[in-house]
Amino acid sequence: MKKEYIYKRFERFWHWSQASLIMFLSLTGFEVHDSIHVFGFEKAVMYHRIAAYLLLALIVFAIFWHFTTGEWKQYIPSFKNLKAQIRYYTVGIFNKEGHPTRKTALQKLNPLQVLTYLSFKIVLIPLVVITGVLYMLHKQVDANSMVIIGKIPLDVIAIGHTFGAFMLITFLIVHVYMTTTGRTLTSNIKAMITGYEELEDVDEPETDKKVKKEKDSIAA
Ligand code: HEM
Repeated sequence: MKKEYIYKRFERFWHWSQASLIMFLSLTGFEVHDSIHVFGFEKAVMYHRIAAYLLLALIVFAIFWHFTTGEWKQYIPSFKNLKAQIRYYTVGIFNKEGHPTRKTALQKLNPLQVLTYLSFKIVLIPLVVITGVLYMLHKQVDANSMVIIGKIPLDVIAIGHTFGAFMLITFLIVHVYMTTTGRTLTSNIKAMITGYEELEDVDEPETDKKVKKEKDSIAA
């Protein structure tokens, strides 16, 4: 085994702040929805809005980071090994078989994770964010006292937003389960805290070594 630097500092900060904000937005959102009672309606509305602005700001920084570092390339989907990965999660894992794909700093996601996280980034998050922003702007009036987004019925926006919220919570539960399927129960979570993960020491091609060395020196 060897220790590899997989998750960079901003990536870890973004991951944990996004997770915390989504959990807090679920808590306050479902209070607005009248499913739970923690802060009281008025405060829940206020906290939900503040957390929503923080999430929007975080998303802007995360998009910038993905494109400036080239990390977006990690999310290019590939069907190679996809079947093997699905078979692993549904059958192999229960027979204690080994992982069909190998994690490296240059390819940290397996093909199933790529598809899941890509859908999270380009479908699920935009659904919740866009409906959330429409929800916010719905009641706002412009200088001429005209309702800005009055054409879309509020209940359509609310249903879209609540559906997205349920999907996000489902994602979160599955995601937490999946984190336990690494080398040990907690190895994936530890890696997202420290950045480092113990990985199988398989000889890498010289080109991979060179690129990794360059990446490490940029990260340092
Ligand atoms: C940038 C992201 C988001 C924005 C702009 C946003 C905005 C809003 C707004 C404006 C409301 C109506 C209450 C109010 O007037 O403040 C609302 C309600 C709600 N939000 Fe969000 N939200 C966002 C993210 C989330 C997330 C991540 C979740 C949960 C995973 C969530 C769950 C809910 C729920 C369940 C409601 C109640 C819907 C209803 O009963 O009509 N929101 N949101």
